[in-house]
Amino acid sequence: MSTLSRDELQDVLRRRFQDRFGAAPRLALAPGRVNLIGEHTDYNDGFVMPMAIDREIVVAFGERSDGQIVAHATDFDLELTILTGDPDLNAYPHWMRYVAAVARAVRERAPLGGANLVIAGNVPVGAGLSSSAALGVALARAFTELAERAWDPVEAAMLVQSAEFEATGVRCGIMDPYASAAARAGSAIWLDCRSLQARYVPIPREAAFVVMDTATRRTLASSAYNERRAACERAVAAIRESDPSVTALRDVQPEQLAGARGRMDVEAYMRASHVIEENGRVLAFAEVLASGNLDRAGALMDASHASLRELYQVSSAELNLITEIARATPGCFGARMTGAGFGGCAVALVDAARVAEWAPEVENQYRVRSGKPGTLLHVIPSDGAHVVD
Ligand code: GLA
Repeated sequence: MSTLSRDELQDVLRRRFQDRFGAAPRLALAPGRVNLIGEHTDYNDGFVMPMAIDREIVVAFGERSDGQIVAHATDFDLELTILTGDPDLNAYPHWMRYVAAVARAVRERAPLGGANLVIAGNVPVGAGLSSSAALGVALARAFTELAERAWDPVEAAMLVQSAEFEATGVRCGIMDPYASAAARAGSAIWLDCRSLQARYVPIPREAAFVVMDTATRRTLASSAYNERRAACERAVAAIRESDPSVTALRDVQPEQLAGARGRMDVEAYMRASHVIEENGRVLAFAEVLASGNLDRAGALMDASHASLRELYQVSSAELNLITEIARATPGCFGARMTGAGFGGCAVALVDAARVAEWAPEVENQYRVRSGKPGTLLHVIPSDGAHVVD
């Protein structure tokens, strides 16, 4: 991951592509995202509210006549070729498995020939900002263009979700690729993960969203993630014994969960409680953000964090510390961890007029109290994936 600005990143990629392949590329860009609220609800058919950020993965691409896909990853200084035919994904390193899985999925829908690719990005990796979904969506955008197929962001999000599962074994939800593919500048996306209907909620001018990187990275996250998902499924199975119309936690009311408590293990009960309450918070958050009630929006973010810490148990000491410091520093309406958890980033809702004094104070206190160099990014709600010539 580089810290280059958007323009620098594009310049570097154009030059690398020209040097390596002797032609000028086109660029497919896909942003990372920060989830404002609605955590671990997407795979329970629930609600989420992410926004795309002004950090992205960029794929410089051009056609290739021999059917092969040659991909150069500048961040790892590594180049690999995917031969035509059905590639064995396990034969490739992680990022390349992703390239192969997305290429295969696009090929199932459209005649994609060969491609030359140079890939780089400035989305922090493993930080809960969806660098991997951004990579998948940027690749899907490039391949769709090469296959001369119309871009459908929702179809692309679903394609990337399954490619990510194939490439990594993590049973991710739809939120991250959806945000990266379909976001709009200036807005957050209120997404119903069952119907995939979205509403764009403009971010009020007085609101600044600040990503707070704890400088810790998640470990063993994929098994813990799949375990959380399995616990939610156990809760659904227990509730279905009395109400077979329930297919996901999205359908469950708090009283119904309470009634089924004796039929499930404690862990399943705690995880389900979080999901059901979090869905309610997303609905409330969309309303209060749209009406500019930032105090209430911040309180909902605080409540979301507490629930992720106590009931879903995916927070960490550093995420708890940085959100605590954020809240205690004047100018902040609320703060919570963001993304899957177990390390990475948190997000704070801050008074835009005070963010310039607030941010260095939080950075400094976090450094002193944790001994780690936390970094804060005031992120701008950005557009989803697009191509530039
Ligand atoms: C990861 C997954 C998402 C979502 C979040 C938790 O980012 O990729 O689908 O489940 O965790 O909300």
